[in-house]
Amino acid sequence: MKEDLFNKTDFFVVKALEDGVNVIGLTRGSDTRFHHTEKLDKGEIMIAQFTEHTSAVKVRGKAIIQTSHGEISNETE
Ligand code: TRP
Repeated sequence: MKEDLFNKTDFFVVKALEDGVNVIGLTRGSDTRFHHTEKLDKGEIMIAQFTEHTSAVKVRGKAIIQTSHGEISNETE
């Protein structure tokens, strides 16, 4: 069942390092578009999964992103 598949999907964590960080969910399937934008202020954390509806995530703004593949930050300096 699809639900079981996504219940086992790892979570990823986004921690905002500045106000106004956008975590944007992109749709799964042949039509790739934004379906949800979550705005985080400095220090706020979002914990989410890839789902039946979300196959990719774009993070705009300075943040730390943790996944099962490791941790990455787009902070430049
Ligand atoms: N309703 C969305 C979904 O089930 C919620 C969601 C899950 C989401 N992961 C996300 C939204 C990542 C933005 C980014 O797919």
